[in-house]
Amino acid sequence: MKYVSNNFSIDGFKTDILAKKYSTPIYCYSFKKIKENINEFKDNFKNINPIICFSVKSNSNKQILREIKKLKLGADVVSLGELMKALNSGIKPNKIVFSGVGKTSKEISYAIEKKILLINAESKSEILEIEKIAKIKKKKVDIGIRLNPNTDAKTLSQISTGKKENKFGVSEKTFLNLVKYLKKSKNINLKCLSVHIGSQILNNKPYEKMLKVLDKIIKKSNFHFEYIDLGGGMGIDYKKGNRKLNLKKYSLKIKKFKDKHNSKIIFEPGRSIIGNTGILISRIIYIKEGYKKNFVIIDAAMNDLIRPALYNVEHRIIPAKKNKLKSKKAYEFVGPICESTDKFSTVKKFQKLREKDLIIICDVGAYGMSLSSNYNLRPKPIELLIKNSKIQIINKRQSLKELI
Ligand code: LLP
Repeated sequence: MKYVSNNFSIDGFKTDILAKKYSTPIYCYSFKKIKENINEFKDNFKNINPIICFSVKSNSNKQILREIKKLKLGADVVSLGELMKALNSGIKPNKIVFSGVGKTSKEISYAIEKKILLINAESKSEILEIEKIAKIKKKKVDIGIRLNPNTDAKTLSQISTGKKENKFGVSEKTFLNLVKYLKKSKNINLKCLSVHIGSQILNNKPYEKMLKVLDKIIKKSNFHFEYIDLGGGMGIDYKKGNRKLNLKKYSLKIKKFKDKHNSKIIFEPGRSIIGNTGILISRIIYIKEGYKKNFVIIDAAMNDLIRPALYNVEHRIIPAKKNKLKSKKAYEFVGPICESTDKFSTVKKFQKLREKDLIIICDVGAYGMSLSSNYNLRPKPIELLIKNSKIQIINKRQSLKELI
């Protein structure tokens, strides 16, 4: 993804050509980048040879899941829908882990039938439910227990999951009691200790702290865990200059930990695999002069990409065609939805834009389309994948007919 003679292009295709051909807004992904990210991830952790389960919630497009499967990743799922889609995309059950605080008996039943690698349970009640269903089915089910390590991931509060005030996982005390209980269970095989302290983590410290907590609790539990599932959360560089997580350094810490406990490591990355592989191409509908800034009203909105509205975060916006002119006033990029939070970013210095120009919203591969909605009865955008110099339509634009 780069400018080729002033035209922003994705793996050889100019974004303005894509916009003309498929209309806007468009989610467009680069297969090349997906492959690069996966290879980089594998390379960073090659000393621990982990099972890598792609977090389906970050991007659940079927074609993307298929490509990810071909690159030998498994899946981390959190609902029956995600589990079915992962299986349907060809991901083998023995590479699927299932997290979530509220798995229904229907979901548990299905996961047991499909013999997935692990159900990562998040409460005593859930474990009792799994045990009950397994007993009826006369099966022994492999599970993990998700620990809440009370570790601050130092990320946005809305996507922090490992502190004691968060709903995720069980407390140390419950964890130890459950391990004791499960040692005697006839229908449950306790195999894994799982954690996930949060998302968009850009600092190694929280992970290191988390490993220390795990170390202590494993000792206390006096139990050998065949697997340790360290979750995902590895952050990406949305803004230039942000600190990048040092995965190599993290892998060295894990190596020590893994050797000590003699366990297989599982990861559940989402954003670090898919985040920077996607862009959102959008056309300017109007430019409106405001009191202090000019509003650039684009045809993508918070229903297409909700991250800025939901977390007050920014995605870089760049022009599809570069020019040398400068804007006089600040631009505020907004969508057409009737909410003041339907706003992408305010930029003081930008090149001069005109109505009908195209802009690109960057790094939207993770939690972009998967969090989209039909709010204001807006159809969901088309998704394209560029692979081997070909454009694939991997999801058609939703038609208004479907909505009305
Ligand atoms: N494993 C579990 C149990 C999770 O809950 C999550 C994300 C992941 C793995 C993957 O985390 P990742 O590697 O992608 O950070 N919508 C928010 C992010 C929510 C993350 C929820 N859980 C956002 O757009 O920033």
